[in-house]
Amino acid sequence: MDRFRLDEEVALVTGAGRGIGRAVAHALHEAGAAVWVADLDEESGRAAAEEVGGTFIALDVTDSAAVDAAVARVVAEAGALDVMVNNAGTVRNTPSTETTDDEWRAVMALNLDAVFYGCRAAARHMLPRGKGVIVNTGSMSGHIANRPQPQAAYNASKAAVIHLTRSLAAEWAPSGVRVNSVSPGYVGTEMTKAGMGNEEWRRAWLDATPMGRVGEPEEVGAVVVFLASPASSFLTGSDVVADGGYTAW
Ligand SMILES: NC(=O)c1ccc[n+]([C@@H]2O[C@H](COP(=O)([O-])OP(=O)(O)OC[C@H]3O[C@@H](n4cnc5c(N)ncnc54)[C@H](O)[C@@H]3O)[C@@H](O)[C@H]2O)c1
Repeated sequence: MDRFRLDEEVALVTGAGRGIGRAVAHALHEAGAAVWVADLDEESGRAAAEEVGGTFIALDVTDSAAVDAAVARVVAEAGALDVMVNNAGTVRNTPSTETTDDEWRAVMALNLDAVFYGCRAAARHMLPRGKGVIVNTGSMSGHIANRPQPQAAYNASKAAVIHLTRSLAAEWAPSGVRVNSVSPGYVGTEMTKAGMGNEEWRRAWLDATPMGRVGEPEEVGAVVVFLASPASSFLTGSDVVADGGYTAW
């Protein structure tokens, strides 16, 4: 259906070198968008861009000036930025009493501060045009506290992403810019590899998921296409949870 298409749209996806971001980049390209694949890791980022048929852009999203420069480059080279996907993220499974200031800051810098930098940079271009969509990667961890592993910093950062998304959506709706988030449950990527290799964690994760399996990155990519496309034209400030039913129990 045409309303799910993104032909002639320009998209920038952060953390797109692997995992969910890579699948999002693929999905946006399949929907017709010209995709810019941004990642800190040059090797995987370049490989992903080639595979996707997009353009690689080296970017550390925790550096706000670099985020501004990346958006400026996309606008200069592609003519516009229509879809911004703030996806790069990280997790630490450290008990809270053992979490250092640096560890806390590293999680917040990437999962929260960088999402704000990406939204702000995109909006500075989108608001004057009166057009644009932003999709942030939250997590079901922004709604529930995972078990059995400790990850308070991650959970707090993702709850903040979901509320930042609502706040920016309300602020920018009158200017024609939509902001939504996707909140995956457990998805099979490098981020969850160690946990899936731990029998206790794996059992707990799958037992708590009504569908009894982890998600595929492509299943998140499809949600992002929906949120990026005119199919979701009346959604802003929404968080779409894609978790195999985890938060239903
Ligand atoms: N995998 C899951 O189960 C799951 C569940 C819910 C939410 N999420 C979220 O989805 C997003 C992607 O997760 P994933 O599982 O694909 O992770 P991943 O670790 O497989 O990939 C993360 C990507 O981000 C890149 N990155 C890291 N730091 C960066 C920086 N400073 N600047 C630019 N890029 C950087 C990495 O190089 C990597 O390519 C994250 O926000 C994560 O919190 C993942």
